[in-house]
Amino acid sequence: MRNGDYHILNSIERGMKKYQYVPLSAIFTYSGYTKEDVNFYLNRLLNYKLIEMQKNKFIGYKLKMDGYDCLALNALIKADIIEAFGNKLGVGKEADVYDVLLSNSKERAAVKIHRIGKTSFHNVRRYRNYIEDRRHISWLYISRLSASKEFEALKILHKGGLPVPRPIFHNRHIIVMSFMNGKLLANINYLKTPNKVLNKILDFIYLAFKNFNIIHSDLSEFNIMILNEQKLLIFDFPQWISADHPQYLFYLKRDIFNILNFFRRKFNIIIDKKEIFDKFEI
Ligand SMILES: Nc1ncnc2c1ncn2[C@@H]1O[C@H](COP(=O)(O)OP(=O)(O)OP(=O)(O)O)[C@@H](O)[C@H]1O
Ligand SMILES: [Mg+2]
Repeated sequence: MRNGDYHILNSIERGMKKYQYVPLSAIFTYSGYTKEDVNFYLNRLLNYKLIEMQKNKFIGYKLKMDGYDCLALNALIKADIIEAFGNKLGVGKEADVYDVLLSNSKERAAVKIHRIGKTSFHNVRRYRNYIEDRRHISWLYISRLSASKEFEALKILHKGGLPVPRPIFHNRHIIVMSFMNGKLLANINYLKTPNKVLNKILDFIYLAFKNFNIIHSDLSEFNIMILNEQKLLIFDFPQWISADHPQYLFYLKRDIFNILNFFRRKFNIIIDKKEIFDKFEI
């Protein structure tokens, strides 16, 4: 990739705030490049399949997801955050997660690339409550919002001393966070003290709610990493809501319920959910 490639990708990205397909005239204006240069780079980007062209009433261009990835990854490299890219750690429905090495500390970390609306827009509905401007609901916009939201929650909770991955960097639809070296709670069949682990999770839900007004809203055994019996981390926050959300009680209770249900099924721990709701004063 040349600098000019990134420059034109950037100009198209800017144009996409206003247009669904960015007309050539706007690309000239945003980039400040000559006609020849713009055409030269547009052809390269089309060949790399980083952008898409429409030829209906007028000729227009838009970023493909790979093009957007290039912009965000280039920002990571420019900021000298990561040194090497490793294997995929997880392919979720809404994100790809990669193992990476940080440049400065040589520490292992994780890069999460948000991909909302990649295959369908089904899940986009979940993000409605934080979409104010509905004119430009595109995968690019929602994926960027999703990453910013997740990064924001990680920052607040990590600063507050709660057990979440440490947020390191954010650009567009990508976040970098500390590596969680553990096993997914969903894949754990034996715990010495399941009661203690359950209490740690309930403590997390309580403190995030009471002290930081944060409700995870997608909490389950699939978003909890067990590092050892004493230490666990809660992750995957893009859909968190604030405690002043009109339906906060529904989401808070559902999170609690999911966890109680899992510990009942797998570890035979039976706790009345009313008892917990009383403790939470909800
Ligand atoms: N910081 C991290 N360190 C190590 N592994 C991670 C980290 N973050 C995510 N992963 C891995 O990637 C998987 C998917 O991450 P996450 O749950 O955040 O995304 P997701 O899109 O919600 O995926 P899913 O739809 O499967 O829940 C996790 O189950 C975990 O295995
Ligand atoms: Mg998840």
